Amino acid sequence: MAIYIRSPLYDQESIPLPKEVSILSKPFNGTICSNKGDEYSIKNNIIDLLTKEKSYTLAQSTNHWRMTASVYEDLWRVRSLSLLTGEPFPIEKEKEFLVHWVNPQPGKIYLDVGCSTALYARSLIKAEPESIQVAIDFSMAMLEEARMKSEAEQADIYLVRADAREMPFFGKTFDGVVMGGTLNELSDELKVLFECKRVLKDDGIFFVMHLIQSESWYGKVLQNSAEWSGIKFWTVEQSNELFARAGFAVEKQFTKGIVCFSKLLPV
Ligand SMILES: C[S@@+](CC[C@H](N)C(=O)[O-])C[C@H]1O[C@@H](n2cnc3c(N)ncnc32)[C@H](O)[C@@H]1O
Repeated sequence: MAIYIRSPLYDQESIPLPKEVSILSKPFNGTICSNKGDEYSIKNNIIDLLTKEKSYTLAQSTNHWRMTASVYEDLWRVRSLSLLTGEPFPIEKEKEFLVHWVNPQPGKIYLDVGCSTALYARSLIKAEPESIQVAIDFSMAMLEEARMKSEAEQADIYLVRADAREMPFFGKTFDGVVMGGTLNELSDELKVLFECKRVLKDDGIFFVMHLIQSESWYGKVLQNSAEWSGIKFWTVEQSNELFARAGFAVEKQFTKGIVCFSKLLPV
């Protein structure tokens, strides 16, 4: 099935994305354009919809480095929740939360926001190969890594370079939106949450994993020192307040240490 994106420049204009773009075993290069003539390149299946360079916080900048992208998942991400909770928390357990709470369905379409190596999109398509997965990030280095890992797993995913503050999608496009660890790193979290709400169908699911404020003194010291790089932490109550402001109600929530999983529904 072809999917439609919204032109980043003309928000009434739709651009079809051929299914072949998501078939990562077959390199796809070319351009797509809207009826207004604005063109976007697709290189090696990665659709580049970032129209202008952005300014980044230090934490965000590091995600644009090839070195970070190449070690991010294998060195950090697979053990990040064990390190952050202080207890064994294998990546398989996190994927179980994701897959059970999102419950991907054949033919339904899901968006991984701030995907990095597309761990969540890959997990969802593995659980339901007939689902359609779209993953966005503004780091080309991360998307290239996502492409390699997805192709190796034969996970056909649409990989899109775009800013989550201005998503190139029409309203009510997705049956599910997922966001793992990205909330803490966003420059404008409320704007991104509003975008997640806009692109989600009324009966859709929003799955978020994020880090909350630590209660221990050493955790507080670590988090305070991370804040200068652009990483933010909230209490569970503050997080839920943010979700509510963006139009989401908490359906389920699970916290362990500073890690919080939420299943949110649009209200
Ligand atoms: C902490 S990583 C999360 C990675 C991934 N979701 C996971 O579970 O492993 C945050 C990612 O969000 C991306 N990001 C941050 N702000 C963004 C924005 N405004 N638009 C698109 N991507 C963004 C960064 O480039 C980075 O790859």
